[in-house]
Amino acid sequence: MTNKDKASPVLVAVAWPYASGSRHLGHLAGAYLPADVFARFQRLSGHEVLMVSGSDVHGTPITVRADSEGITPGEIVDRYHKEFLENWQKLAISWDLYTSTGTENHSEVTHDVFMKLFEKGHIDKRSSEQFFDEDAGRFLPDRYIEGVCPHCEYSEARGDQCENCGRTLDPEELIKPVSKISGSEPTLRQTEHFYLRLSDFQTPLSEWLSSRKGWRNHVLNFSKGWIEEGLHDRAITRDLDWGVSVPIDGIGEDKKIYVWFEAVIGYLSAAKEWAKSQGLEDDWKKWWCEPNSRSVYFIGKDNIPFHTIIWPAMLIGYGELNLPSDVPANQYVTFKGGKASASRGVGLTISQSLEIFEADSLRYALAASFPEQSDTELTVEEICRRINEELVATWGNLVNRVLSMIYNSCDEQIPSDEQRTEEDLALLSAIDQMLDRAGQEIDRVELRAALQTGMSGAAEINAYLNSLEPWKLSKTDPERAATVLGTALSAIGGVRVCLSPYLPFSTELLDEVFGPVDAWQRKEPQHGKKLEKPKPLFKKVDIDLLDLDE
Ligand code: MF3
Ligand code: ZN
Repeated sequence: MTNKDKASPVLVAVAWPYASGSRHLGHLAGAYLPADVFARFQRLSGHEVLMVSGSDVHGTPITVRADSEGITPGEIVDRYHKEFLENWQKLAISWDLYTSTGTENHSEVTHDVFMKLFEKGHIDKRSSEQFFDEDAGRFLPDRYIEGVCPHCEYSEARGDQCENCGRTLDPEELIKPVSKISGSEPTLRQTEHFYLRLSDFQTPLSEWLSSRKGWRNHVLNFSKGWIEEGLHDRAITRDLDWGVSVPIDGIGEDKKIYVWFEAVIGYLSAAKEWAKSQGLEDDWKKWWCEPNSRSVYFIGKDNIPFHTIIWPAMLIGYGELNLPSDVPANQYVTFKGGKASASRGVGLTISQSLEIFEADSLRYALAASFPEQSDTELTVEEICRRINEELVATWGNLVNRVLSMIYNSCDEQIPSDEQRTEEDLALLSAIDQMLDRAGQEIDRVELRAALQTGMSGAAEINAYLNSLEPWKLSKTDPERAATVLGTALSAIGGVRVCLSPYLPFSTELLDEVFGPVDAWQRKEPQHGKKLEKPKPLFKKVDIDLLDLDE
């Protein structure tokens, strides 16, 4: 829901990537980049933004990977956490805090949430039968077991979730279960676990979801459908030795908290960690307890049930903490029809992409294809086309052309705004309206539309120049030519603000002309200032020269 209060706090909560392998362009376009664009816009609009996430270092994605490489989970986590930090830095993802679920603080906050839910009766202990691998001599939680999904018959459903239909599962629901460790058919063994009583929250969750306004249809429909099927209590501990410890004794060693139960708590623990690091212990409450605060969760669609049902249930049970204001989950980016997937190696990784493309160019091409409403096919060819035919042709060339003409025919000096005509002012007011509209679009998390709106501003400036032809005027009426070029430059200043959440690096290259972008408002260039010789903002890409073999 949109919150019109100018200074209200905005929590930008971003899915925590598993540190189990390189992340690919699907993750970047699905969660991190949309979150960054949104956060940058909210800051420019005067909101106090807290954008947090971190590496999800627990769970079977990590241990399965460690087993397969014959090294420890800790080594896997260190390797990929480091890679993610490098990715974020090269892409300028503007985290207020990017941490990990491996911290002491995260364990403490998880224990607090667990104990509070336990004391309130929303967590209880049960004995149940779990799959056990006789050959390996161990239980088979989550990704250690695969089978046929009871809902959609997908044959490679995992023990805790079916990747095909998105439903969360309990391992014993799988049809024809197979151990991922030995390939054998598992047996059932009695074991004890703690359960989250999701059924306690059926009514409040259903009421809460029904009152959501402005949410994406696919998110609401999926969540409501899930609730209507009836919520089942779910085990929130696992027979694993890697993870956050269980804060209550008496269910034996070698049990850990289920990764999804603690990972979602990361949003809260990260806010607390951030507050501590600022020396303002209680500041996290601004985003979690104030009723006018807005919390927006950026995730891929496979994470929907955890964010629209399980996490809200935990928050309701805990009490006094804000529920998500919006969960604008993205659909999938597909490569040649298949969902981009880190574990199956489909699609380019973020690191590979950054070796091929400039960060802003990659950010542009992905944002133009954000899968906001439906799965979106992406190819390297399409990325190149977007960069060359849109970013460079419409925006990069415009900026370069105007700056070069000013440099060459206005004595290297930024013209004044004194002689502007109605026609000139009309362009500027169109640009100001464009900026308003794009702002509303970003606020509604229609980031693809807002980018298009910004680019339409650039097209409008191009049309203005083509009709007034300052390159001819400079010979017949140099004064008028200077006014036209100065007006075009001012309009460029407006488009630059609009594109700044998407293109942080090239935005900064224009600081010399306009000063830094510090508000969602067109800024006049610095009249009379001497220009440096202009350089292109972006490089064109030549697909034939790209090194694409992996
Ligand atoms: N690690 C999960 C994934 O990559 C996402 C966790 S999001 C959080 O799919 F909510 F748990 F933090
Ligand atoms: Zn399924």
